[in-house]
Amino acid sequence: MKKKWWQKEVVYQIYPRSFQDSNGDGIGDLQGIISRLDYLKDLGITSLWLCPIFKSPMDDNGYDISDYLDIADEFGTMDDLKQLIAESQKRQIKIILDLVINHTSDEHPWFQEALKDPKSPYHDYYIFKEGKEVPNNWRSVFGGSVWEKVKGRDEYYLHSFSKKQPDLNWENPQLRKELYQMINTWLDMGIAGFRVDAITYIKKDLYFQSLESDGVDGLAKCTKAVRNQAGIEKFLDELKEETFKKHDCMTVAEAAGIRYDQLNEFIGDDGFFSMIFDFKYADLDIASGSEWFKRIPWSVADLRKRIFDSQLNVQKYGWAANFIENHDQPRATTKYLLQYERNSDAVKMLGAMYFFLKGTPFIYQGQELGMINFKRDSIDDFNDISSIDQYYRSMEEGYSKEEALEFVNLRSRDNARTPFPWDKNNGFSTHSPWLKQNNNDNEINVQNQINDNQSILSFYKEMINFRQNSQYSDCLIYGSIEPIEVENNEVIAYRRQYNDMMIDCYFSFSNQAMEIK
Ligand code: NOJ
Ligand code: CA
Repeated sequence: MKKKWWQKEVVYQIYPRSFQDSNGDGIGDLQGIISRLDYLKDLGITSLWLCPIFKSPMDDNGYDISDYLDIADEFGTMDDLKQLIAESQKRQIKIILDLVINHTSDEHPWFQEALKDPKSPYHDYYIFKEGKEVPNNWRSVFGGSVWEKVKGRDEYYLHSFSKKQPDLNWENPQLRKELYQMINTWLDMGIAGFRVDAITYIKKDLYFQSLESDGVDGLAKCTKAVRNQAGIEKFLDELKEETFKKHDCMTVAEAAGIRYDQLNEFIGDDGFFSMIFDFKYADLDIASGSEWFKRIPWSVADLRKRIFDSQLNVQKYGWAANFIENHDQPRATTKYLLQYERNSDAVKMLGAMYFFLKGTPFIYQGQELGMINFKRDSIDDFNDISSIDQYYRSMEEGYSKEEALEFVNLRSRDNARTPFPWDKNNGFSTHSPWLKQNNNDNEINVQNQINDNQSILSFYKEMINFRQNSQYSDCLIYGSIEPIEVENNEVIAYRRQYNDMMIDCYFSFSNQAMEIK
């Protein structure tokens, strides 16, 4: 594979609402991010991915966009963003934005026009079906039917996610053209690329037939008919040709549901994207990505198998995007380390284990401090729409209130969304934050860790520097990877190799000393 600039990056993901508040309203914002760029530079990261910052009613915290080319008031203005891009550039940090083009907000002017006038050209920008009855039994990712009735008309519109996120109709060429223009506007403005949201949802099964039910609600998971459907390649290819390919940008697609035999099309030499997030190991504790109550037991050996399946399959065709956390996942310490979660050596081990896999590493804010899940005692303390849905769905499926709360505590997206702990008084905001601060003890904050050379934060800094700026960099970045077989099933080990350099990496999940065989 030819070398690409984005292979050398270390990407840091920011959840803007929760990173740093600058104006005392309890909500993180762009000026807040600007004020922390030196921290990020010092950490050593080279790119920032910002979760959506665009105008939005915030039903799904910005993944419901009402204006693609403007900034949400609570985050700031277009000038703030331009300042962020410029200030980042001074520090050799690139900016990657979140591209949400499977759906818009229901408050987007296109959808408002479509509602007002069914004859308007915007009506066909979305997926409407006429009729008195709900068109079929598909269940949305956030629960309930994918269909929402239009007030005052015998008509329904489709939403794969919340009812405030109507899906766009990618079959409409005019809509596609408008999206491409928007994307090119952003790329022309100097951003380095996109994380591409829910992109495998853009093609639907156009028969719209009911499926065999898979829950007590009588509905069937919509992913069977709205995700990764035949024909999606045509849209993805056009998207790439009309936008990304014209710029030397980096794209990382959230591509849940694709099979490894599709990787060549997705990330091969002339693939649709630079890389994709593979969720197969992130979801190893649940039977299915969107149903948290279908929990399955797992072992380090399972994790090892899934990681190498992913690495070896991706390596055949392209480049990996390696991660252990993001804004939709629980904290990795709690998920992967089980009983050892508060042991800082284990947290460092886990960090290095994924960081030196082959691919571009992504670090989610707070991961570098070893943040842990935030256990809540009541469903009222959750903000995330999918947590609320999963809580009630688990009870509908026969689980007790306590069990339902436990599933949500383990998996809630709010675990990762708590405000960033800058110091022991939190330093995030002078106001009470939009989402309760994690009740971390005094240990897990920047102030406590920044000057301690044994801290998790210092370890992350060293680890990043080791990948980026050492005599081992070429091997750690471009070297091949192969699993090393060891007898102990609590060890994950692999070999990186480049020209005449070879680095063997061993990671033990056990708290016992051991000899490697
Ligand atoms: C995936 C995003 O990461 C998630 O936060 C969001 O809720 C859905 N896509 C819908 O946009
Ligand atoms: Ca603010």
